[in-house]
Amino acid sequence: MTNPAHISKTLTCSCFHFRHLPRAPNALWGVVPPSRAFSRRIPPQRGGKLSLPTRTSPLAPLGVTAALQAKKDPSIKPRSKIFDEFSLRDRVGLVSGANQGLGLEMALALCEAGARVVYCLDRAAAPAQDWHATREYVERMANGSRLEYVSCDVTDQQRVWKIGEEIGDKEGRFDIGVATAGVPSLHINCLDYPHEQLRKVLDVNTCGALFTAQAAGRQMTRFNMSGSIILIASMSGSITNRGHAWVSYNSSKAAVIQMARSMACELGDKGIRVNSVSPGHIFTNMSAAELETRPQLLDIWSDFNPLRRIGTTDEFRGVITWLASDASSFCTGSEYAPIT
Ligand SMILES: NC(=O)c1ccc[n+]([C@@H]2O[C@H](COP(=O)([O-])OP(=O)(O)OC[C@H]3O[C@@H](n4cnc5c(N)ncnc54)[C@H](O)[C@@H]3O)[C@@H](O)[C@H]2O)c1
Repeated sequence: MTNPAHISKTLTCSCFHFRHLPRAPNALWGVVPPSRAFSRRIPPQRGGKLSLPTRTSPLAPLGVTAALQAKKDPSIKPRSKIFDEFSLRDRVGLVSGANQGLGLEMALALCEAGARVVYCLDRAAAPAQDWHATREYVERMANGSRLEYVSCDVTDQQRVWKIGEEIGDKEGRFDIGVATAGVPSLHINCLDYPHEQLRKVLDVNTCGALFTAQAAGRQMTRFNMSGSIILIASMSGSITNRGHAWVSYNSSKAAVIQMARSMACELGDKGIRVNSVSPGHIFTNMSAAELETRPQLLDIWSDFNPLRRIGTTDEFRGVITWLASDASSFCTGSEYAPIT
């Protein structure tokens, strides 16, 4: 296997040599001088030494390292581990807004990936039929996973924190927090947009996302665990959403995208990852309500996406499982978003 000390020495030397290279006019370095490009990618450590990555997966050795070990020791039987990296076996999660739509779909995906339990938070006093059917489906899957429902308004910070604490007390761990609860905006000219409406949308979409992320992060910290927090934002948070008088919704989601980046930077030292997902146009009750009043939007929304269609909730099973799992262990502060 490659000797880490050798790599460290080589990289230190490479840095030195690159500093003395003339600015190369080739495509590899483009207009960035080699020394700058290199130092941005591998920052020099104290004393001019470079430290190698220290993360060790519980499934280690993985990938090429596993292949090299197997080459040295023929008694090692190669086996595929890629799907094990996506496994959420025994993990504990919370998904807000999971009585229906994207939240419920994501909660089910986490259960299918093996989570011990996923707590679904939503404002309804009792869960809807779809939720009950999904819970029964999880039970009948018999993989040891379960769905729980907790009635909660995500704008109540103390209550969301308390629910997080109660989950922590009961389960003794906390691995995944997904903030999905959200409300659309009324169509109101931005120059007339009333304070009350603005406050309502920001309260749920922005404050509620933060309170949910806090509830998860506080428990991850309490149990000294790494974990994954995923904030459901929207492409309306970053694109120019023409044709919609949605100043509150767009602003609320822009804040969520930056919230994920900001929290990722603060929590990285604790091994807690924070990412955002901007789904694109997805067929749910929320979008159906809009399409009912303005059916012409279906063509416009479909045209936004290179696939020329809007999406379905089950198309988020993969991305949410990936972000929640160790398969995305080096992904934090990022936004998953479709090209528009
Ligand atoms: N559907 C889309 O096209 C689309 C696109 C981009 C982003 N999103 C975002 O995805 C998320 C889910 O949207 P959806 O389409 O599944 O909508 P949805 O209306 O089907 O689900 C939203 C859920 O959030 C819950 N909720 C609302 N306010 C709450 C509160 N104060 N406390 C607790 N729960 C509350 C609702 O009861 C509902 O169950 C939202 O944040 C939405 O902004 C949706």
